Amino acid sequence: MTNFSLENLWKYSEFFENKNYSFDKKQILDLLSKKDINEAYSSISKWEGYQPTPLIELNKLCMELNINKIFYKDESKRFKLKSFKALGGAYAVERISKENESIVVATATAGNHGRSVAWGAQRLGLKCKIFISEFVSDARGNVMADLGADVIKVKGNYESSLTECINQSNKNNWQIVQDVAWKNYITVPKYTMAGYTVMMKEIVNQIDQNKISHIFLQAGVGGMAGAMIAGIANYLDNIPITIIVEPDSAACVMESIKANEIKKINIIRESLMGGMSCGEVSLVPWQILKNSVKYCISLPDDNIPKTMRLLGNASFSNEGIIAGENSVPGVISLVASCKNKKIKDQMKLDSNSNVLLIGCEGDTDEEMYQKLISQLD
Ligand SMILES: Cc1ncc(COP(=O)(O)O)c(C=O)c1O
Repeated sequence: MTNFSLENLWKYSEFFENKNYSFDKKQILDLLSKKDINEAYSSISKWEGYQPTPLIELNKLCMELNINKIFYKDESKRFKLKSFKALGGAYAVERISKENESIVVATATAGNHGRSVAWGAQRLGLKCKIFISEFVSDARGNVMADLGADVIKVKGNYESSLTECINQSNKNNWQIVQDVAWKNYITVPKYTMAGYTVMMKEIVNQIDQNKISHIFLQAGVGGMAGAMIAGIANYLDNIPITIIVEPDSAACVMESIKANEIKKINIIRESLMGGMSCGEVSLVPWQILKNSVKYCISLPDDNIPKTMRLLGNASFSNEGIIAGENSVPGVISLVASCKNKKIKDQMKLDSNSNVLLIGCEGDTDEEMYQKLISQLD
């Protein structure tokens, strides 16, 4: 007997199969190299306080969906930052400061990436400038200020904060540490992705003899998803079925895969999945994702609070899991896929499947987390 019902509507907006699918390990590792991946693990695993984050089995959900195993990588336990982002920005800061120890680092951010950069700078005693848009909450700004960063509020949206960051950095000779790549700005975002691949190294050690058959990957600008796919190419013998999940208001990877070229989305409504509300896939991830993603799914926000609550109250696993808004779309996509017989068959989801879900973050915004899990359906 379970205390949740799968009879309620679990839905996604769109399901799409990539017609250009081909998973070429060599091509992927030409884009994010074995050397970069191995160096990231070697450095980060030596950081003070480093511990692999838990890989939790959603054993109750397995029984309900008739799936062999469902693994949930719980990034709420990542250092004290409570998100996988701690692996990226902070590692990029470390890499670029190797060449020059007296640099000032700067970034524009909606929250979690900036927190990682500020923490990375604090670890190394570097000065840090963080640019946030006027729409980023004071709570998020204060967390970065508490990590020693100068937080600069900019009128307008994220794009405006990035423009201001670039202008001031050029003027003052600060080093920009951005997680998004653009033409002629590739190396630093690659370091952030190399940092994220540490998750896959840990997972390989944690799954024992099990082979992952499916992996659901959330995408904003695609850095995390691209990094995990590079991690698969580097660390796994087999090739799981890869599925990208995005908010339906910002499905920039899906739309680009459909068009076989980068497509910019005009975001009209900001998703609750704030970290994934991005209008354009980043350059390096795009080069990885365009062929190596098998399916794309886009989701409305509807099931997010409910799924956060079900993870929190141990409906899916033996222990409760603190899962933030960006952590649940993989779970929702899996349940929705299993509820649709045609798609379930197409995706080959069955009693032999071992599914990997990425729980990207915990309660990175504690107030928002409490509000959402208390919400009635
Ligand atoms: C907090 C947070 N930010 C951002 C993202 C998106 O990552 P990326 O922009 O690298 O695709 C996620 C997960 O997808 C997330 O959980």
